[in-house]
Amino acid sequence: MKKVYLFATALMVSFTALVLMPSCKDDDDDKETMTLYDSLGGTKMVADPVGGAMIEQGRLGIRSVVDSTIFVIAADTQLNTKFFSVLLAEVGAGNLTGFNILSKNLTDFFCVATGAKNYTYNGLDMVSAHNPATHSRIGSKINNAEFDRFVADLVTGAQKVGLSNQLIGQVGALVETTRSQVVQN
Ligand code: HEM
Repeated sequence: MKKVYLFATALMVSFTALVLMPSCKDDDDDKETMTLYDSLGGTKMVADPVGGAMIEQGRLGIRSVVDSTIFVIAADTQLNTKFFSVLLAEVGAGNLTGFNILSKNLTDFFCVATGAKNYTYNGLDMVSAHNPATHSRIGSKINNAEFDRFVADLVTGAQKVGLSNQLIGQVGALVETTRSQVVQN
């Protein structure tokens, strides 16, 4: 687990500066047309601290929140073994394949949900993703209290990478729209 923790810390430190950067807009964009994705960094191309390829700043910011949150949840005994035992076993064995797929799918999901134009989400729908009968990687159906706990961990994950309270509030409102699909218990 120490290896995982170090990996998480490295990710968060390297991404913090980017998440804190103000968003950059084209001059001809109206304030009214700004999406949450724009506020999170938008389409400005920046170097990805992991690998060095160019990446949209909004996507990089979202990915940093996603990865930070996965590691908060991995340490949360109210959620970790009950729901994420498949992922935890893989990561504990040094296998990051499932982590990378989850990180990509969650990042794609939030990019699309916040208004990104250049990415698509190809993962399971929210009902199927959160039912063990249709998704073998989830340990149990989720109740309302567990959803609340997950959102609290998301807030902690976002705070760890320096997202403002204002943006955290907007992300929180967005995830709340998925509650009726995610909560099935
Ligand atoms: C708050 C809103 C939530 C959103 C938007 C969300 C979104 C997602 C997405 C996009 C995936 C990937 C699906 C795929 O790979 O096809 C996923 C997987 C998963 N979600 Fe959620 N989720 C939410 C809440 C929760 C909650 C509350 C829990 C548990 C308490 C949970 C547990 C899981 C698990 C265990 C997986 C599979 C992880 C793995 O690949 O190993 N999710 N979720």
